[in-house]
Amino acid sequence: MKAREAACGVVELYQAEWCPHSHRVRQRLTELGLDFVAHQVPVDPAERTGMERATGRRSIPTLVLDDGTIVGADDEILAVLDRRFPETSEAARHRAKAVEEWPEWLRLAPSRTDGFVGSRSMAGRSSERRSEAMAEFVTVASSVEVAEGEMTGFEVGGERVAVANVGGTLYAFGNTCTHLQCSLASGELEGTTVTCPCHGSRFDVTTGALLRGPAQEPVQSYRVRVANETLQVEL
Ligand code: FES
Repeated sequence: MKAREAACGVVELYQAEWCPHSHRVRQRLTELGLDFVAHQVPVDPAERTGMERATGRRSIPTLVLDDGTIVGADDEILAVLDRRFPETSEAARHRAKAVEEWPEWLRLAPSRTDGFVGSRSMAGRSSERRSEAMAEFVTVASSVEVAEGEMTGFEVGGERVAVANVGGTLYAFGNTCTHLQCSLASGELEGTTVTCPCHGSRFDVTTGALLRGPAQEPVQSYRVRVANETLQVEL
């Protein structure tokens, strides 16, 4: 949790209407009777420079409280709101109305404190089904253009693949987060862990294993090599 130097005196939510995690936060702000200003953000986290200038973050939802405290990720935001603001007498009625108007809401929030249960992509599945016999190395870049500690995303053979350079060793994995399909190559790489820029899911770049949700499935892992000074991924 961070805080702005100067409190702005109003609750601000960086969000997008299509984001179910943003919706959870909007719903809770409504239940608590808190007025807020909603800031819409670009779809691509790489383009959220204005948001980053204001909050230090590019992932949504991000909430700036009236005292300047900055909180990210819906579960954490809901926990902070619960600690700071008492349940209002109107809250239950707002929840009942939400379910009445939009039954799909039950899928997003079976109870106010339960975790989000949303749709999940099947990223990587097509590759998993690919047989060893069919696999072949495909050139994704004419030179090794992934600097140490960096990641780059490629589109090759209909697959979105990310390549990470960890201490001089290259690792290739599915570039589509299995939560809501954000680009992992736009996220943060720390050691062998990549953190999705959208809602913070974490994956091990060496295996594609899921380390932390909200995603519930791993991403595909690919073999990668440098041959004839080109970067190649086995598809
Ligand atoms: S898209 Fe939600 S965590 Fe990656």
